Order: sequence, then C-alpha cells, then structure tokens
Amino acid sequence: MDIIAIYSNKGGVGKTAAAVNLAYEASRSGMAVLLCDMDSQGAASYYFRVRPKKKFSDKKFLQGDINDFIRGTDFDGLDLLPALFSFRHLDLRLDKMEKRKNGSVFDTVFKTIAGEYDLVILDCPPNPTLLTEHIVRTADILVTPVIPTTLSILALQQLLKLTVELKIGHRKIKAFFSMVERRKNLHSATIEQYKKYPVFMKTEIPFLAEVEKMGINRQPVGAAARNSASALAYERLWQEIWQRS
Ligand SMILES: Nc1ncnc2c1ncn2[C@@H]1O[C@H](COP(=O)(O)OP(=O)(O)OP(=O)(O)O)[C@@H](O)[C@H]1O
Ligand SMILES: [Mg+2]
Repeated sequence: MDIIAIYSNKGGVGKTAAAVNLAYEASRSGMAVLLCDMDSQGAASYYFRVRPKKKFSDKKFLQGDINDFIRGTDFDGLDLLPALFSFRHLDLRLDKMEKRKNGSVFDTVFKTIAGEYDLVILDCPPNPTLLTEHIVRTADILVTPVIPTTLSILALQQLLKLTVELKIGHRKIKAFFSMVERRKNLHSATIEQYKKYPVFMKTEIPFLAEVEKMGINRQPVGAAARNSASALAYERLWQEIWQRS
C-alpha cells in the first residue's frame, strides 16, 4: 500500500482539488483507494457529501482505530475517511505522544488497513506543523501544487528545506504547476524559469471554472464531465505521478 500526501505549506493552491481528483482518477485506473481528509476544514469530505461518524475522534485516528470510520463514496474503489473539526488538535496530541514513543507515530496509523487498499491519498492542511513532519516522513510520495508565482515557489523551497532537515531527501517530492493561467506573463515566465528542475512534473493543471464548480457539483471533475479539459488534466497528472513513482 502506497501513501501519497498532497501537501504545501501555502493555503489555497489546489491541494484539495488535486487530492479529490487524483483519488478519483486512481480508482478509475482500477486501484482500491482511500482518500483521507486530514484537514479539519473538511473540504474533501464536503466534495463527496460524506460526514464523519459520531464516535470517530482525533484520538482514535492516532491510535489507528480507523477501520469502522471509513465511509464509501458514490464511486467504485474509492472510500473516504472524513475529517473531524477536532483534527485541529492533532498537533498537540502528536507532541504528547512523541515524548512517549520513538519513531513516527504516524507509521502505525494506517497499518490496520494495509491489506485493504492499494493507495492512501492524504489531503493535508497548509502550514508546517508537527502533523506535517509526520506526514512528510510517512508518505511515499509528496505531491505539491505550485501556483506559478513567487510565493508558491517559496513554499516549494521551504518544503525542500524541510525534507533536508528531516534527512529524507528530495526524491519523494513531485511538484506540479497548479491553477495555471498562461496568458499571465508572470505565470508563463515562472514556468519557463523553473520547469527544468527535476522536482517538477510535466503536467500542468490550468485554472478552469470547472474545478471551481466542484463546490456546487460536489463530485470530482471527471465524474461531472469525463472529457472536460480539467478531467483530462488530472488524468494525465495521475498517470505521470504513478509512472514516475
Ligand atoms: N485548477 C483550478 N482552477 C480553478 N479553480 C481552482 C483550481 N484548483 C483549485 N481551485 C479553486 O481554488 C480554491 C482553493 O482550492 P483548494 O481548496 O483545492 O486549495 P487548497 O490548497 O486545498 O486550500 P487550503 O490550503 O485552504 O486547504 C477553491 O475554491 C477551488 O475550487
Ligand atoms: Mg485544502
């Protein structure tokens, strides 16, 4: 079972849009996929119209007691672990647990479901927190959306620095240009300047109203319109991530 985290310490760069659509595309390719909503805002859960069960808690999550709280979606091969608002306390809990235990607390969380899924996709909250460090250590692949602007590039540089600090190297990072508007000079110039770096994948996700409309349709873009430009872009992105892994 592979774990792919969708992460950037910058907010609003297209992490949740990528997590939802990549999870959907991976399930279409025949994999058994669990999308895990790690963000207490619960945006990924909202897109699938799924609410958490009452007895679920952030404490249970960290103990790896997640099996009973996984929900199905309308799509074959795609399940969801919805976020709780109390996931905002995960940092505090991790801090206490770390003091008692060596190694990554997070490694144990997904052990109980290892035989049931081919892939876990984590939709992460922004900000470099303790939770992020655990996710960065645990994930096999870190997919990071970068809007082709200065501040998003800065966020990528910070992620590269974090992986060096954590001594895990850059190899698991796969960046892609997100919300691209080629008619903007800054976007085109930034892409031209940075695309040569091997951390970047070739596929770009354009800025498209179809993606924004996910908030109304509440389903992945590929389910709303299979041959739309956005659905095809996420399909290509999924293929590139999986080919290069
Ligand atoms: N390719 C795109 N084209 C147009 N709009 C997009 C695109 N990707 C994301 N959006 C819109 O931009 C907003 C932010 O996207 P999203 O929620 O995916 O970002 P995020 O990085 O997960 O944000 P947060 O850091 O708050 O979790 C949303 O309203 C979403 O619909
Ligand atoms: Mg998000």
